[in-house]
Amino acid sequence: MTTTRSFGRRASGLAALFGAGALVLSACSGGGAGAPAAGESGAAPAAEGSIKVGVAMPTQTSERWIADGNAVKEGLEKAGYTVDLQFANDDIPTQTQQIDQMITNGAKILVIASIDGTALSSQLDAAGAANIPVVSYDRLIRDNENVDFYVSFDNYKVGVAQAKALLTGLGLTDKDGAKAADAPVGPLNIELFAGSADDNNAGFFFNGAMDTLKPFIDEGTLVVKSGQTSFDQAATLRWSQEAAQKRMEDILTSTYGGGTEPLAGVLSPFDGISRGIITALQGAGYGPSIADGLPIVTGQDAEIASIKLINDGVQQSTIFKDTRLLAAQAVKTVEAIGKGETPEANDTKTYDNGVKVVPSYLLEVQTIFKDNIESDIVGSGYYTADEVAAGVTK
Ligand code: BGC
Repeated sequence: MTTTRSFGRRASGLAALFGAGALVLSACSGGGAGAPAAGESGAAPAAEGSIKVGVAMPTQTSERWIADGNAVKEGLEKAGYTVDLQFANDDIPTQTQQIDQMITNGAKILVIASIDGTALSSQLDAAGAANIPVVSYDRLIRDNENVDFYVSFDNYKVGVAQAKALLTGLGLTDKDGAKAADAPVGPLNIELFAGSADDNNAGFFFNGAMDTLKPFIDEGTLVVKSGQTSFDQAATLRWSQEAAQKRMEDILTSTYGGGTEPLAGVLSPFDGISRGIITALQGAGYGPSIADGLPIVTGQDAEIASIKLINDGVQQSTIFKDTRLLAAQAVKTVEAIGKGETPEANDTKTYDNGVKVVPSYLLEVQTIFKDNIESDIVGSGYYTADEVAAGVTK
């Protein structure tokens, strides 16, 4: 059984603890400046009296999580906290062990981006028993009541935005979503990819996208020729680029004559998956760029390699989630909790984790096409123009 302590009681307990100034936390060895290597401790030495926050991130294989982890760490350290940042190599036992260790090492607040949202129950039970508030970061932790707050983006709207980008790329709508005057009558063949089924976000993305595509599928303008339209059929375990490439290759073989038949677009929920899909498509003879007939492929995360592909006219779009803003929101949330206050929520209805509705703060996202890389990606300082051209960050 999990504890039934409410967030309010836990938070005020914390405030009392911090207020008494009795907290002298022992340092975790290792770490230091910069991103720790996978599995290494990113803990900075604890300043006397500073509060330790455990930050658990899923992986370093996708650059967004490195950026998230580093931005959260930096923001918390600036706010006077000591941070134990860990990345788990997309391996569930590694993540559970890291969180157990954070609790043992004296973390007073946990910020967790889970790998499998249902696999952390014993860690959350332990956190609840020790009065440690838990902030679920970007991915909702499920089936446990000791999830105090959720910071993320509007995940349903991410899926809507991905589908809208696909519709625009296919010439069916303009960028405002209105039917294009010269829209093709179709039928146009598309294929669907979803994220990892153990990530709560993946369903939100897929539902948002499917609700948007459905009218076009129902009227026959769009056809999912493989027939693989369910979430389970489209899902990609651990968001794996290789698995996506393999599934795309299999679909091309089974349904598109190995690449000789028309395929107009592919819904992709994540840039890594998009790059796997694009490799499969190009390998089968489509493209190499959209102008040469490469199908429209969407994405998510504005990863530098995909921003370059968009700039080069290969990938059509991505969804920009400004990790700097999400990290700043997580820091604000931790600070509120640390002071015994209720963190600011802007959604208290949507994110039911199976046990309770978790109060959430959801940020907005932006769709990036070739024509707004300069204004929205370079202009906001996310990447420099040189990084976009090179396809790597410095
Ligand atoms: C995140 C996405 C990301 C995906 C793969 C999801 O939980 O919300 O931004 O593309 O994980 O890392």
